[in-house]
Parts: sequence; C-alpha cells; structure tokens
Amino acid sequence: MKHIFNIVAITLIVISLTSCSDVIMRKPNVRYMAATDMYTSVGYETYAKNPNFKNGLEAQLPVAGTIFRGEIPYEIANTEEGYLLAKETLMSPLEVNAANLAKGNVLYTINCAICHGDKGDGQGVLTQRDKVLGIPNYKDRIITEGSIYHVIMYGRNMMGSHASQLNDNERWEIVQYVQKLRTDLLPQNTSNN
Ligand code: HEC
Repeated sequence: MKHIFNIVAITLIVISLTSCSDVIMRKPNVRYMAATDMYTSVGYETYAKNPNFKNGLEAQLPVAGTIFRGEIPYEIANTEEGYLLAKETLMSPLEVNAANLAKGNVLYTINCAICHGDKGDGQGVLTQRDKVLGIPNYKDRIITEGSIYHVIMYGRNMMGSHASQLNDNERWEIVQYVQKLRTDLLPQNTSNN
C-alpha cells in the first residue's frame, strides 16, 4: 500500500514540475496537417484588398434593393404627388380594435403629443412654449390613413420624419389612433361634450 502512495506522489510531483515548465510550454506541438488553413482560418479584414470585387476591396455595399429582415419597403416617393397618391390609395393593413388603439395611444404619446397635444388639437407642450410653429389641429386638416402614414414616413414642412423611430406596424397603430383623435375633435362630436 505504501508503495502505491509513493508512486502516486512521485507521479504528481513529476507532472507538476513538467507541465508548468517554460521549456515544454513554449515548444509548438506537432502539426499533423500540412495546410495551415486547417488550423488557422484566413481572416477577412473589412477594408483589406480583395481582387474578386470590382472596387478591389473586401468591404461591399449591400446589393441594390436589399432590405433588412422584417422591413417592409415603402415605395411611394417623397414628393407632393407621392403625398396625394398615399392620401388616395394607401390603406392600413390593421383592423380597428381596442388593442391597436391602445398601442397607438402609447406610441402617439411618446412620439407625437409633444407637438400635437394629447388630444390632437395642436396644443402640445412645444406649441404652448412657442417652440414649434404651425402645428395644426387634426380636425382642420383633410387627412386619410394613407396621408398620415406618408407624413410619419417622410415628415412634412416643419415636421420631421419619424420613420426611423417606428416600424411599419407601429406607424399603422399611430395612424389608427390619430384617426380616432380627429374623429373626436370634429364638431359633431365635440358639441355633445
Ligand atoms: C416637432 C413637432 C412635431 C412632432 C413631434 C410631430 N409633428 Fe406632425 N406636424 C408638425 C407640424 C409643424 C405640422 C404641420 C406641417 C405642415 O403641413 O406644414 C404637422 C403636421 C402633421 C399632420 C398633418 C399633415 C397633413 O397632411 O396635413 C399629421 C397627420 C401629423 N403631423 C402627424 C404626426 C404624427 C402621427 C406624429 C408622431 C409620429 C407627429 N405628427 C409628430 C409637427 C410635429
């Protein structure tokens, strides 16, 4: 029994001495395969030269027409004709229901109310402080779901685009909520209150 202990102890000492020895650690191991690519991949650097591409560079722009995953391209142009086209033809894919209106309400409050006011009457905080001029009361504008979407995409005059802050679905939820605000503001509805 004592004999076995000795062997184990000696083996441990030998392992601990040799495994950490500098000499052994620094010596490269045997390589079995000739091609080094099998061990080390060729690292592509973004701006490295690459003769396979026309501009000779590794970095390439996405192919024309590329969209990111989940993106729905908006093909109506940012022009007055585009605005009118959207106003007349563009329809919301969402059904009008309480859930969509509730989400639209939250997004409207975050993104639009500061100018347009909680009720859509144009009396947002920035209006009251004279920071932004010309914010309309929704009831005074002839707007459709298509035109509202178009204006969120591209902005209009003093209003900037909100396309980058909101995805397609979120834009339509806001559109639905703006329609509701506008309906509530129209004279036949306000006179009863
Ligand atoms: C920085 C202030 C500001 C913010 C924020 C803002 N708007 Fe506007 N909005 C304006 C101004 C100013 C106009 C008037 C533009 C014009 O017709 O000259 C306008 C006009 C509009 C119109 C009427 C456009 C038309 O066709 O006559 C709609 C609809 C509208 N905004 C919706 C929104 C929605 C929805 C949001 C939030 C996603 C939003 N706005 C955020 C300032 C703002």
